[in-house]
Amino acid sequence: MGRCAQRDGVACSHRRSDDLQLRRCRVDEQLSQLAHEAPIAVFLEECCCVEASHTQIMTDTALADLASRMATARRVTAMTGAGVSAASGVPTFRGADGLWRRYRPEDLATPVAFAHDPSLVWEWYAWRREQVAACRPNAAHNVLARWSQHDGFRLITQNVDDLHGRAGTRGLVRLHGSIWELKCFKPCANGERPWRDERVPLPEQPPLCPHCGGLARPAVVWFGESLDSAVVDRAFEATTCDVFLTIGTSAVVYPAAGFVDEARAKGAFTVEINTETTPASSCVDLSLIGPAEEILPSIEQLLAESK
Ligand code: APR
Repeated sequence: MGRCAQRDGVACSHRRSDDLQLRRCRVDEQLSQLAHEAPIAVFLEECCCVEASHTQIMTDTALADLASRMATARRVTAMTGAGVSAASGVPTFRGADGLWRRYRPEDLATPVAFAHDPSLVWEWYAWRREQVAACRPNAAHNVLARWSQHDGFRLITQNVDDLHGRAGTRGLVRLHGSIWELKCFKPCANGERPWRDERVPLPEQPPLCPHCGGLARPAVVWFGESLDSAVVDRAFEATTCDVFLTIGTSAVVYPAAGFVDEARAKGAFTVEINTETTPASSCVDLSLIGPAEEILPSIEQLLAESK
């Protein structure tokens, strides 16, 4: 294994195989040609490396190219995961400090777990509600909220923390529900529709359905449960776009993980923004490696300059 070349005297910590053929290039000439041939991985804060047919490119040029595509795009869709809320202090699920490293999803995030021990499941959700209540939207949420004011921009999220909503996002598609909503566990006829309850802590634990007095549950999608088909339809419809951004998601939970492929198959220019590579990295047109809360404001700045 060797290391990538250096850029501006800053050593790159991205390791590469010796057989990679990195070469400097005039990115402006090659970006458009590369865009639909091979994924471009751009490692921010480091040098920029691309694998396979593999070209070394300049981060700022890749961002400028993306910004110009977004400036002329009629429809832009972004899909977010837990990584966008990481800078707000909300833990992600996977990775070194991920929640699923410390807790077993089968004990806490399935209907069977809830039926077996509702108090334990509610303890976990009460803890998460308390944690999220103390968090604020970060720069990534704020940029996406501003973009959502434009017609043609759509935001799909897997996050249940509602930080996109608190940032003022319009027309948000919430695939996995919200921890600030409850519904009847049975469900009874009136409690099937979720109701909002932002109290922290909740006055009764476990909380009860106000309609039938049975157990209430968090209105989130647990493992093994189906997503709301109307919500999936809206998300699927949003994959018809010119630029599709997948941001801060490990791209392993379906159907969300499949949307980027769907968008690309329909002709969208696809971009991943993540601090690490994921299964989606090799499928997208452009993979930007770095924190969403830094990359999104950079793109927004370039969009403003291009006006
Ligand atoms: N900027 C961008 N990406 C980041 C950042 C950041 N600041 N911090 C972390 N990430 C990336 C991680 O590298 C990881 O790929 O965010 C991703 C978070 O992945 P997960 O924890 O798996 O979260 P997510 O993809 O949203 O999980 C999907 O799994 O358990 C379920 O229902 C839960 O909705 C969730 C679903």
